[in-house]
Amino acid sequence: MVCSGAVKALRDINFTLERGERIGVVGESGAGKSVLGFSILNLISQPGRITGGDVRFEGKSLQNLEDKDMRTIRGNRIAMIFQDPMMTLNPVLTIGDQMVECLLAHREISKSAARKIALQKLMQVQIPSPEKRLDQYPMNYQAVCVSGSSLRLAC
Ligand SMILES: Nc1ncnc2c1ncn2[C@@H]1O[C@H](COP(=O)(O)OP(=O)(O)OP(=O)(O)O)[C@@H](O)[C@H]1O
Ligand SMILES: [Mg+2]
Repeated sequence: MVCSGAVKALRDINFTLERGERIGVVGESGAGKSVLGFSILNLISQPGRITGGDVRFEGKSLQNLEDKDMRTIRGNRIAMIFQDPMMTLNPVLTIGDQMVECLLAHREISKSAARKIALQKLMQVQIPSPEKRLDQYPMNYQAVCVSGSSLRLAC
């Protein structure tokens, strides 16, 4: 039987996080941990939608922000390390190009400066041969490296 109508993936979530604080969200698979992260960043894709409640960051509601205003917060002030790094990265672009693209979207810097930063980021997470790694594709990375790169993309 196929049911129609709205199904709530998440309800009754309420927490406040002060600067420097951390919160761990624990729950069985399908409990809604990822949906919570996507909701905070306004990344719920159609036909999903947020039907109620509010997400406030530094006192301001994020729910009705214009896309361009949300983009200045997303990746700059609030970042998400996606659960599946292989799904996060574009398989047809090199790791370096993806990191540069991400940096250029958030900072007013040249492409070569962005590449230098990307290199430093890979070095920070101790990825061996970082210069060579920048020009490789996600498929050339082992899972642990991809997690590191995704983490760097989120920073
Ligand atoms: N875009 C979507 N549209 C409809 N339902 C969705 C969507 N994304 C997730 N869900 C559903 O919302 C529920 C919560 O999923 P979610 O991925 O947040 O779980 P999770 O706690 O992160 O699980 P896991 O530990 O496996 O990562 C699941 O029932 C899932 O099928
Ligand atoms: Mg999840």
